Amino acid sequence: MAEHYGARFFGEREAAVYDSQEAGMFDPGVVTPAVDMLADLAGDGDVLEMGIGTGRIALPLAARGVRVHGIDASSAMVARLRAKPGNDAIDVAIGDFSTTRVDGQFSLVYLVFNTIFNLQTQDEQVACFANAATHLVHGGHFVIELEVPNLQRLPPGQEVLVFHVDSHTMSFDTYDVVNQGLTSNHFVLEDGTFSSYPVEGRYAWPTELDLMARLAGMRLHERWGGWKREPFTSLSRSHVSIYEKT
Ligand SMILES: C[S@@+](CC[C@H](N)C(=O)[O-])C[C@H]1O[C@@H](n2cnc3c(N)ncnc32)[C@H](O)[C@@H]1O
Repeated sequence: MAEHYGARFFGEREAAVYDSQEAGMFDPGVVTPAVDMLADLAGDGDVLEMGIGTGRIALPLAARGVRVHGIDASSAMVARLRAKPGNDAIDVAIGDFSTTRVDGQFSLVYLVFNTIFNLQTQDEQVACFANAATHLVHGGHFVIELEVPNLQRLPPGQEVLVFHVDSHTMSFDTYDVVNQGLTSNHFVLEDGTFSSYPVEGRYAWPTELDLMARLAGMRLHERWGGWKREPFTSLSRSHVSIYEKT
């Protein structure tokens, strides 16, 4: 399943363009507040990133002296991480983060950039919370960063929401509100033709995630509207939720 996943959405073709297509997410203004909060929560313990990818967060966190480990299904994404300075400080297991167990006990497990939505079913998302809890010491934290499903902008019967358009890109989300399906579609103009980069998954409301945490022996510790601890309000477009293993 893991290899299928990696090949389907984050295979060689996507890995080759990930850092350039997501350049805005590599901006220090985006990365530094996330690394600040994660380093704070890690304390002196080891940390585990689920879906470590090309190391956008893991590498600057490791550069702070935090011992970072990772899991990712895509060898192609991890190969990009391996090509970057500082990568040798990070151990990465190739596998599905909802089931893969790595050695060690961690003060912090984190899963950022909407990635738990990449799991296609509720069962897999529940398993992911359980797997995070298995890796944590008591009192350890599981942090997830996710967009809030954009359902307030969906009139009855509408399924598609465009969220970005510029001279060479069009990105839109397709919602299946019966099954909580969410497909992000990115069409990018490359050498005169459009290439498509879809990612399919399942969205979940924050309170559903809180219940998954409780099933896994964790409880919601804090929820913020962003990495700078902005308040989470009815207008927040994303959330950073911190669960604690009880
Ligand atoms: C959007 S990228 C995020 C990468 C990195 N965390 C970042 O913030 O830039 C999602 C990553 O999660 C990985 N991934 C998605 N679902 C996965 C799963 N079920 N098991 C392991 N890795 C997964 C993908 O291969 C990809 O590298």
